[in-house]
Amino acid sequence: MTDKLIIFDTTLRDGEQSPGASMTRDEKLRIARQLERLKVDVIEAGFAASSNGDFEAVKSIADAIRESSICSLARANDRDISRAAEALRGAAHPRIHTFIATSALHMEKKLRMTPDEVFEQSKLSVRFARNLVADVEFSPEDGYRSDVDFLCRVLEAVIKEGATIINVPDTVGYAVPELYGNFIKTLRERIPNSDKAIWSVHCHNDLGMAVANSLAGVKIGGARQVECTINGLGERAGNCSLEEIVMAVKTRRDYFGLDLNIDTKHILATSRMVSQTTGFVVQPNKAVVGANAFAHASGIHQDGVLKARDTYEIMRAEDVGWSNNKIVLGKLSGRNAFKQRLQDLGVALESEADVNAAFARFKELADRKSDIFDEDILALVSDESVAKDNEQYAFVSLSQHSETGERPHASVVFTVEGREVRGDSDGNGPVDASLKAIESHVNSGAEMVLYAVTAISGSTESQGEVTVRLQNSGRVVNGVGADPDIVVASAKAYLSALNKLQSKADRVAAQG
Ligand code: KIV
Ligand code: ZN
Repeated sequence: MTDKLIIFDTTLRDGEQSPGASMTRDEKLRIARQLERLKVDVIEAGFAASSNGDFEAVKSIADAIRESSICSLARANDRDISRAAEALRGAAHPRIHTFIATSALHMEKKLRMTPDEVFEQSKLSVRFARNLVADVEFSPEDGYRSDVDFLCRVLEAVIKEGATIINVPDTVGYAVPELYGNFIKTLRERIPNSDKAIWSVHCHNDLGMAVANSLAGVKIGGARQVECTINGLGERAGNCSLEEIVMAVKTRRDYFGLDLNIDTKHILATSRMVSQTTGFVVQPNKAVVGANAFAHASGIHQDGVLKARDTYEIMRAEDVGWSNNKIVLGKLSGRNAFKQRLQDLGVALESEADVNAAFARFKELADRKSDIFDEDILALVSDESVAKDNEQYAFVSLSQHSETGERPHASVVFTVEGREVRGDSDGNGPVDASLKAIESHVNSGAEMVLYAVTAISGSTESQGEVTVRLQNSGRVVNGVGADPDIVVASAKAYLSALNKLQSKADRVAAQG
């Protein structure tokens, strides 16, 4: 006998709260479609009341996604909850997730509310939300550090009001597995109506234990929903990572005895999409999705794997979307082969026009690079520098000159609202000169807080993927660009970051 573990993905809400990871509405929609392909049960699409931009993102995801439940976060007040319900109106399966802090520290110092006021507010909010949608999740923020008697009182009351899911966040990543698992168990045992709700875990990774804590919440505590993010994206050290928790439960089904809906072969494509959209690079030794996750470097391991794969492999790389056949396409490959490869990689482009545009970029790349790898294709389809209708800046061309002993010089041609301009500058190196050339026109005044280059498929022949993080007036954004020429990739990344700086509205922080 097994039962099911619900996977609740909060990449687009808690993940997006990570400084620099904020996404546009279209980016969120694209990731939501990919999450639906991955078959996550619940997508937390955003925090509708936090800004008009987030409201629109939640709304467009709710209107587009039919299979997964769509959830919006809402503080425990009528305005937030009404905004969430409004954004979710078109959803096939809407869920409102309302929260209020219950730890003594948060109630006193942050909310300046008494425990009795928090108790009343919790009840009223769940009652209000239940009049708007049938599926209501309640989270006592900083729940793990809350007084257990008080927490039992609040949770019993909100279940009575009709909360369908009770989520117990370890908001600050303070828990350790055994204690967290037992905490959930105690709550379920002590609350008389605990069987009327599904219990959920939500762990942050400050001590590197978010996945372990979540698993303990499931195994010891009996939780049947896990809240997680792709690549463990999230504030500070991030959240519980979806790919790790899913593969742990799947690989050790003998131990957990739980079933999942997730279609694991889409994991890698989803990880790449989130990384390329946010600019948060995945470390090579990251479990499941890191470049080295299935690479056997030592002679002894390679020998063992060649004789029998299960000597050193506990999961099959193909099961999470890594392909055996790494060199996939070249200059002579046709549109059908390209389209088939996109399908194999789990990438579904929205329209035939999008396929044609991606194929044109593929041909252009194949002219410059003989072997096209899966990673190149994934970078190509999520290339942010491609001119989009509503974007201010788009890359056109670049030339630069650098020579030992001379100061490099660059000219960059790009469009500003469709009009072509050219910037010229010198700089410490060709990248510096190129970005200064752009800045000579734009005058954004933004401060660069991160610049990183990685080789997409691991050799000097590969495309370089550049991440640029800019900060301006308290806002932090990431831009990503890919090209075989890393100076061009840098210019593309810089323009992409400038576009994001232009389009971001201020928002209310969920934990604010
Ligand atoms: O970590 C946390 O407490 C949260 C809540 C808003 C659920 O993200
Ligand atoms: Zn959180």
